[in-house]
Amino acid sequence: MKKRKVKKGPFIALILLIILCIGGFSLYKYIEYRNSNTYKLLEKGYTKEEVPKINKLKNVNRIVEMNYQKNLVSLLDETYFLEKNLDQYLDYKKENPSKSTKDIIAIVNVGTSKPYYEGLKETDTSKKELMLVNKYFKLPDTYKVEKVKELSSKYSYAGNKINEDIYEPLKDMFDAATKDNVKLVVTSGYRSIESQEKIYKNYVSTKGKEWADGFAARPGCSEHESGYAVDFIQMGTNRDTFEASEGFAWLQKHAAEYGFILRYPKDKEYLTGYEYESWHYRYVGEKTATKLKKLNITFDEYSAFYLN
Ligand code: DAL
Ligand code: ZN
Repeated sequence: MKKRKVKKGPFIALILLIILCIGGFSLYKYIEYRNSNTYKLLEKGYTKEEVPKINKLKNVNRIVEMNYQKNLVSLLDETYFLEKNLDQYLDYKKENPSKSTKDIIAIVNVGTSKPYYEGLKETDTSKKELMLVNKYFKLPDTYKVEKVKELSSKYSYAGNKINEDIYEPLKDMFDAATKDNVKLVVTSGYRSIESQEKIYKNYVSTKGKEWADGFAARPGCSEHESGYAVDFIQMGTNRDTFEASEGFAWLQKHAAEYGFILRYPKDKEYLTGYEYESWHYRYVGEKTATKLKKLNITFDEYSAFYLN
């Protein structure tokens, strides 16, 4: 039988075409990789473990354009990292190299990296008990508490009022404390802007401006003007002795159940802008108060991260 001669030409051409395709595809993939952020970030000195974290940012291109930032990934790893604040974190860390990344994040988020009262904005009063009032967020000049309610002598020293919204929770908390043999008493509640001004000016004239700013808000910037802040102590104590009382211990345990938080805690002056005030409580509602207690963060930090 006559052997059929197989034509090799087309077969070789096919092989060559396949090789060419694979080569072309590999080259394309290589060029694509060289142009990728992953490659550029590795080239900059970020590690294989760090690059995926950076790639999760919305604006990775900015990082690619920047010089290598040795603090970048430790910032990204922080719970309260906000991408919009990245430049400020990096700048603040450069100026304050000994500060921890956790503190850098908190300080920049709440704004205490800037001088107090600088760029004062109007707070969003529609947030009601969750409105932020501090040295960066003031109450609008036109703000008026819808309804204030005067407290009886059962709960308060004479003449104190509070925002009606918090009357029931405050009453419930005080009654529950009384059942546990703890008698709490309100020493200051709602304040008009005029009365806040009087308090602030009085502190300035008697103790000096620096001291005054550590303990009293400037008019327009006090939570007391919102009616959602209340000062209270245990009957028979004063501001200096309250912290060591049963009443204070009771509040540490139970205040959150009624929606109240200790607003200016110890060692958090650099975030709240105020010295420790064992007597100043703020109503934020049970859910938020419980969350804040669990997270162990200030309302300023909470507001910057969760409410804005
Ligand atoms: N003592 C607090 C800061 C106030 O004046 O509102
Ligand atoms: Zn107060």
